[in-house]
Amino acid sequence: MSSNSTLSVDNKAVDLAVKEGTIGPSVIDISKLYGQTGMFTYDPGFTSTASCESKITYIDGDKGVLLYRGYPIDQLAEHGDFLETCYLLLYGELPTAAQKADFDYRVTRHTMVHDQMNRFFTGFRRDAHPMAIMVACVGALSAFYHDSTDISDPHQRMVASMRMIAKMPTLAAMAYKYHVGQPFVYPQNDLDYTSNFLRMCFAVPAEEYKVNPVLSRALDRIFILHADHEQNASTSTVRLAGSSGANPFACIAAGIACLWGPAHGGANEAALKMLEEIGTPDKIPMYIAKAKDKNDPFRLMGFGHRVYKNYDPRARIMQKTTHEVLSELGIKDDPLLDVAMELEQIALKDDYFVEKKLYPNIDFYSGITLKAMGFPTSMFTVLFALARTVGWIAQWSEMIEDPSQRIGRPRQLYTGSPERDYVTVAQRG
Ligand code: SDX
Repeated sequence: MSSNSTLSVDNKAVDLAVKEGTIGPSVIDISKLYGQTGMFTYDPGFTSTASCESKITYIDGDKGVLLYRGYPIDQLAEHGDFLETCYLLLYGELPTAAQKADFDYRVTRHTMVHDQMNRFFTGFRRDAHPMAIMVACVGALSAFYHDSTDISDPHQRMVASMRMIAKMPTLAAMAYKYHVGQPFVYPQNDLDYTSNFLRMCFAVPAEEYKVNPVLSRALDRIFILHADHEQNASTSTVRLAGSSGANPFACIAAGIACLWGPAHGGANEAALKMLEEIGTPDKIPMYIAKAKDKNDPFRLMGFGHRVYKNYDPRARIMQKTTHEVLSELGIKDDPLLDVAMELEQIALKDDYFVEKKLYPNIDFYSGITLKAMGFPTSMFTVLFALARTVGWIAQWSEMIEDPSQRIGRPRQLYTGSPERDYVTVAQRG
C-alpha cells in the first residue's frame, strides 16, 4: 500500500511516495529526490533510513519485540532449535518434520572443511585473536569452493549457504583448539549441530567426551537469539559487499570483520572484561559515574541499543539461560553475575539511563554464560558470528533475489576544499 507526501524545497513542491509495510514504520521513497531537487538526504549512522525492503526479521524497539519471519523470539527460543530457526530464516516458514530432517542431513554433510585449511592455522601465532582467524579462514573458503561462488546460480547460492552454516562451527572450534594448543577435533555426524560444536571444542584424544545436554540446549538457544537482527551494522556490511557481486564467502568474511567491533558484536567480550574490571558491587557507582561523564569515553558495555529503547527481549532470555547454566554447573554464586545484576538494578533506576532509554542488550549476560561453559573471552564474538551467519546469508540471499537490487553507492555532504590549482613544491614556501 502506498500514499503520497509532499516536500517543499526552495518553494518547489516535490511529491514523494509513502510505502507501508506489514507492521512498523512506513517509508518515504526518496530514490528520485536527487533527480527532482539536486539534493541528497543526510543521515549519518542511518538513524532514520531504511536501506531495503525485507521479509525476514522485524524489531519494535519501543515495545522490545523481535520476530523472525513473524514468530516471536521467545517462542522460537523456548520451543525450537537452531537449525529449525536457520530453515525458517532462509525459507520463510517453519519446516515440516520431513523438511527438517532433510535440512539437518544436508547441513551435517557439509561440516568438514578441506584438510588443507589446517595449514592456514599453523601460520597464525597461538595468541592470535580467534576473530582475526575467522575473518581470514571464512574469506579463504572461496579459494576452496569455486563450485559455489557464482551468485547468479540459485543452486550454487544454496550450496554456499549450506557450506557456511555447516562449516562455521568447525572453523570456530579449530580457532579455539589452535588457541589452546590442542589437536583439532573432527565433526561427528551422529551428533546434533550444537552438541557437535561443543564436542569439537572440548573433546580431547585422551578421553571420552560426553556432551552435557543441558549445556548443549542452552548454547543452541543462545545461537537462536543471535541468528538475525534486521539491518544491523554487520548485516548491512554483508548486503553492501554482496551488492557488488562479491562471492558469498567474501561477504560473510566482511560481516565477521564488522561484527568484531566493540560497539557491535565485540560488546559481549567487552562487557565481560568490564564486569571483571568492576570486580565487586561496591565499585559500581564509580563506573556508573564514568559512563555518565561526557568527557569519559567509557560506556557500560552490553547496555544501550540503536533500536531497542526498551529491554532487549533477547537479554531477558539470555539472563534466564545464564541462571540455568550456572545452576547446571553447580556455580552457586558467580561474582560476575552478582556485579551484573547489581549493575543492571542501579543503572535502570538512574535518571541518565532512564532518560536515554538505555537497557541491557543481548551482550550484557551472554559473556557470563559462555565463560561458565568454558569459552575464553576472546571466543565470545566468534560464537556470535557462528550464530549470525544464517542471518547474514538469509539477508544476502534476499538482496540477490530482489529484482530491484543494484550496487549500493551512498553519496555525501562535501565540506572539503573547493577546486584549486596545483602548486609546485618550490612555490609552497
Ligand atoms: C549489538 O544493531 C543491532 O541490532 C546490533 C545487535 C545485533 O543483534 O546485531 O543488537 C548487537 O551490537 C548490541 C549492541 C552492543 N554494543 C554495546 O553494548 C556497546 C555499548 N553500547 C553503546 O555503544 C551504544 O548504546 C550503541 C552503539 C549500542 C548504540 O549507539 P547509538 O544508537 O549510536 O546511540 P548513541 O551512541 O548516540 O547513544 C545515545 C546516548 C549518547 O548520549 P548523548 O550523546 O545523547 O548525551 O546514550 C549514551 C550516549 O553517550 N549511551 C551510553 C551508552 N550507550 C549510549 N552511555 C553510557 N553507556 C552506554 N552503553
